[in-house]
Amino acid sequence: MSEHKMNGIIFSCQQNFFRYAADEFKQIDASARIIERLDDETCLCESALPFSEVSQALREAVFIRHICPVQIQTEPLAARIISSALYNFHIEPNESFAVQTRILCNQLLKAYDINNELSDRYTAAGCRLDIKSPRKIISIVIKERAYMGLSEAGENLSDWAGGRIRFHKGEEQISRAEFKLEEAMKCMDLSIKPQSRVLDLGAAPGGWSRIALEKGALVTAVDPADMDKRLLKYPGLTHIQATAQSFIKGCAQNYELLLNDMRMDAAESAELTNLCADLLCRGALALITIKLTGIQPIKQLKESEKILSQRFEIVRLRQLFHNRSEITMLLKRL
Ligand SMILES: C[S@@+](CC[C@H](N)C(=O)[O-])C[C@H]1O[C@@H](n2cnc3c(N)ncnc32)[C@H](O)[C@@H]1O
Repeated sequence: MSEHKMNGIIFSCQQNFFRYAADEFKQIDASARIIERLDDETCLCESALPFSEVSQALREAVFIRHICPVQIQTEPLAARIISSALYNFHIEPNESFAVQTRILCNQLLKAYDINNELSDRYTAAGCRLDIKSPRKIISIVIKERAYMGLSEAGENLSDWAGGRIRFHKGEEQISRAEFKLEEAMKCMDLSIKPQSRVLDLGAAPGGWSRIALEKGALVTAVDPADMDKRLLKYPGLTHIQATAQSFIKGCAQNYELLLNDMRMDAAESAELTNLCADLLCRGALALITIKLTGIQPIKQLKESEKILSQRFEIVRLRQLFHNRSEITMLLKRL
């Protein structure tokens, strides 16, 4: 067999932020080493630490979205991949599992076929296929070699192959920005309660507002631009057609959740979020996107964090799959 075991890890990130994701990985410990960039957003690395400890160390990572272990390398041939997995990866009968194959090169192989074949074999052995919420994941990444590993789903940082989380695009969707809020709610454990008072800055055309309204919240949407006409049916919506700067001056409300997706310089948006702290109940949460469009995104990010920490605890920072050149932050009003 032309396969050998190694203590490898593959991480995934957004291509524009690869450098910063690699830095996050190298900071795990002195043994952490980048081996090869497999494609724009996928990187093969090595560490002396067990995968579970690497996972623990990367729990708060901002740029690394997904990791999976590499316990076996083999030739990128379907029969070899299937037999290596079956021989090496033991899943208990009745334990739930999923197979996630990613093909990064122009192979004749189809991820779908490998996933199906392996799923059928493990199911025949009594294991339970659960693609949405598996306990164990077999990860297979194929380039010139096939890199394979078995892990607890929770250790991979995301249940989705490469962290590429997908949501259903419903008829009623107003903007693609909705995916950002949906992903943040899922990854950051944020919920929007019925009857809660929500302030949505930079709300137009209204995707985030729509999601909050669907949850039964009372939404004040602030944006000089028009909101989508489909939102007229929600009695809980108030649209203030103005800039956030002018709205804040005259407002004396007590909101329970602040959403800020304004297209605006990072530091300016952070300053405005701070001004909104006085409009929020103590302990209220704020979800904001910080646009990192400058040539020094880390400097921009640090500056924004410094500004925001005057009025907020920074609960979570993450470059979500649906974020382009931006970071999503979950904050708690001090
Ligand atoms: C990315 S879009 C927001 C998309 C929205 N979250 C959604 O789900 O449909 C950014 C918005 O920020 C708004 N914006 C930019 N500067 C603003 C300001 N000073 N005050 C309020 N809104 C602003 C723009 O008009 C634009 O509609």
